[in-house]
Parts: sequence; C-alpha cells; structure tokens
Amino acid sequence: MELFSTTSLSMTNLSSFCLVFFALFTIFNPISALKSCEFPAIFNFGDSNSDTGGFVASFPPLNSPYGETYFHMPAGRFSDGRMIIDFVAKSFDLSFLSAYLDSLGTNFTVGANFATASSTITLPTTVIPANNGFSPFYLRVQYNQFEQLKGRSQLIRKQGGVFAQLMPMEEYFHKALYTFDIGQNDLGAGFFGNKSIEEVNASVPNIVNTFLTDVKSIYNLGARSFWIHNTGPIGCLGYILVNFPSAEKDSVGCAKSYNEVAQYFNHELKETVLQLRKDFPSAAFTYVDVYSVKYSLFNEPQKHGFELPLVACCGYGGLYNYNSSAGCGSTITVNGTQITVGSCDDPSVLVVWDGIHYTEAANKFVFEQISTGAFSDPPVPLNLACHRTLG
Ligand SMILES: *[C@@H]1O[C@H](CO)[C@@H](O)[C@H](O)[C@H]1NC(C)=O
Ligand SMILES: *[C@@H]1O[C@H](CO)[C@@H](O)[C@H](O)[C@H]1NC(C)=O
Ligand SMILES: *[C@@H]1O[C@H](CO)[C@@H](O)[C@H](O)[C@H]1NC(C)=O
Ligand SMILES: *[C@@H]1O[C@H](CO)[C@@H](O)[C@H](O)[C@H]1NC(C)=O
Ligand SMILES: *[C@@H]1O[C@H](CO)[C@@H](O)[C@H](O)[C@H]1NC(C)=O
Repeated sequence: MELFSTTSLSMTNLSSFCLVFFALFTIFNPISALKSCEFPAIFNFGDSNSDTGGFVASFPPLNSPYGETYFHMPAGRFSDGRMIIDFVAKSFDLSFLSAYLDSLGTNFTVGANFATASSTITLPTTVIPANNGFSPFYLRVQYNQFEQLKGRSQLIRKQGGVFAQLMPMEEYFHKALYTFDIGQNDLGAGFFGNKSIEEVNASVPNIVNTFLTDVKSIYNLGARSFWIHNTGPIGCLGYILVNFPSAEKDSVGCAKSYNEVAQYFNHELKETVLQLRKDFPSAAFTYVDVYSVKYSLFNEPQKHGFELPLVACCGYGGLYNYNSSAGCGSTITVNGTQITVGSCDDPSVLVVWDGIHYTEAANKFVFEQISTGAFSDPPVPLNLACHRTLG
C-alpha cells in the first residue's frame, strides 16, 4: 500500500516493480508461468448437461420456449439458451460445437459433440422410446462415434470437395481439449428404476470404472488434454424432489441422500482422475468440481443474483413448478382448455430451467466460476488445461 501512495513513483520504477512482482509471483505460483493453451478443437462427451443437438437429431425435437433466451428458437439444447460447453467453446474463440449425430449443416472443423440427452456411462437397460428409457448413445457408443470421426474425417479431407472443408485437421485430435460431463443419468436410472438409495450408491464403483475404461480408450486414440466435470447436486432438481417427495431435505430443501450418492460418485470420480494422471504422465487430466458451484446457487442464490432456486422457470404446478406429465413446452388440458407449458417472466434470475436442466444464466455462472481453476484439481484454469502441473 505504502508503495502506491508515493506520488513521486516514476513509471520506470513502477514497471520494474511490476517485473519483480511478476517474477516472484511466477516462482511461487508455477501455474501462472504457463502459456495459454491454443486448443484448435473440442471433443465433448456427455448427457443433456452438454448436448448441443445430438438428442434432437434422433428423437422428437424440443418445443418453444426451449432456446428462447439466446437462440430465440429451440436449438437442440435443454435450456433457454447456451450450455456450459458453449461458453467453453466461446472462451477459445471457437464456434458452437456441432453434434456428431446431426446430419444437417454440421461443421466439424473445430470439433464435435457426442453428448446426447439422457446418456449414461453404463449400458442402459431400457432405451428410448420405452417409458423411463435412456439414450442408446451411452459413453461407449460416443467413443465409437469419436473413433469413426477420427478415421473417416481424414479420408474425407484427402478426397477433397465440399465435405473436406467441414472436417478437423489431423493434428487437431492431438491438440484438442476433451471435455466430459456424464454420470447424472446413471444415478437417475437407478433411482427411477426402483433401486434403493443404498443400491444406487453401491453401483457407483462400477459406473466410475466404466468411465475409466472409456477415457483410456479415448487417450489411446491420441487425446492428451482432459477436462472432466463431476456430477451436480441431482437432489436439488425438481424431477427428484417431485418424484421422491418423502426424501429427507437438507437445510436448503434439496433431497439429502440423493445428493450424497452424487457426492460419493464425485469422490470416486476424483480418485479415478488421480489414477489416470498417474497412469498417463504425458497427458493433462483436470477434475472440475461443478457440484460445488451448482450447489452454491441453491445455498446462496441471492449472493449470486438468483432467486427461488428450487422452482423451475418452465414447468407446471406444484411446489417446484415441475410435473413430468406437463413438461416445458408441452400442451396440456386444464379445466377443458388447452394451454402450452411456458416459461417464467425472467429466466435470467432462475437457476433451474425445466426441473431437470439449468438456465443459461446458471450455466454462464457455472462457466465463469469453473474457468478460473478455483474448482479444479489440480487448480488449473480452463485456458491452461493442456499443461500437466504437479499433483
Ligand atoms: C466451418 O467452421 C469454421 C470454424 O467456425 C469456419 O471457419 C468455416 O467457414 C465453416 N465452414 C463452412 C463451409 O461453413
Ligand atoms: C418396483 O418395486 C416394487 C416393489 O419391490 C415392485 O412391485 C415393482 O414391480 C417394481 N417396479 C419396477 C418398474 O421395477
Ligand atoms: C455410499 O457408499 C460409500 C462407500 O461405501 C459410503 O461411504 C457412503 O456413506 C454411502 N452413501 C450413501 C448415501 O449410502
Ligand atoms: C401433473 O399433471 C397432470 C396432467 O396435467 C395432472 O393430471 C396431475 O395431477 C399432475 N400431478 C401433480 C403431482 O400435480
Ligand atoms: C379449474 O376450475 C376450478 C373450478 O372452476 C377452479 O377452482 C380452478 O382454479 C381451475 N383451475 C385452474 C388451473 O384454472
């Protein structure tokens, strides 16, 4: 403080002070000495938390008001606007990721998105369109699709013509950022499949092991920078709160034991990422605690500019404005009159969009928090996630 109060401090002194300061800072904080990564592409694996159009390429599309805030029309995203992965791509000046499954107007030059809504890590026992069915595009299938893209994109580039310009360059597969956000539906499949909390909890090591196997396969195809999200507080979402009304609530009203299973999953996932880091010294694996950031929105909404965190913006009825038979954008009959389930007045102050997924405002907040590195292990920010640091 004293230094800056000295009015006679010359510019030369100030800049040499800055140099010394940065040199010291660099010595004591090795992460800050690293050069920003230049990821030319992103390959994403996951579920609806990062789907940018894979699900709707194969299954019934989303209705308005999905997409209303940013795209002003449904845009294959389970939100009113952008997803965390959209903000990740933007931060590297990359355009929106095309969904691998989308056969219309896709451009894979800056990567591809294999995520589809309702995807699991483990083989789903019931698939869409069965009642309570999950996506057939579970993580192993997403890996297979990635392998296809990796090989065939280079054949297409060699052939030339219009499609060649829509494929990533060969070296991008090595240089790209590989992002993951998956696991929520493995827990959901257990809860909705009549399993007890203890049974779902006991299935966690198998789920995480399967994840490990698939990430190793992706590594074996040349991936070297991994950014792995943990799973969010599933017990704070309307679809759990409404379907399991007798669940014990924590101090903020979230279903306690459901969140505890998510926490156990995250604990095991973090161990797995540590293991990957040991097994593959030439790759950078970052574990990202999305759970804590999302939970802070339920715990201290006002502090972050939000309100009524348990109440969905787009939904119908009940304490949480959520009813699975009156989903966001659907048409229902109330007292003999047809109405469309629409959205709240101001999605920018609500956390939950449709009882299962987050609003663009919440996604943006989560991105801003996690991109700093404050929630990463090791504590590397997103733009340094190509570097392997100690730990
Ligand atoms: C594909 O995307 C890249 C990156 O955003 C862009 O530069 C290119 O013009 C696009 N190609 C076509 C044919 O739209
Ligand atoms: C759920 O469990 C109950 C009691 O164990 C059983 O009667 C019912 O058939 C199960 N339902 C499903 C969908 O497995
Ligand atoms: C889940 O299993 C772990 C390991 O056995 C245990 O520590 C934890 O308390 C369990 N959580 C729940 C909610 O059953
Ligand atoms: C959910 O909506 C359906 C159809 O509108 C209605 O029949 C049902 O009572 C609602 N359920 C709850 C728990 O409000
Ligand atoms: C439906 O009609 C009943 C009886 O007129 C009324 O009490 C109720 O508020 C109406 N429900 C809705 C959602 O408008």
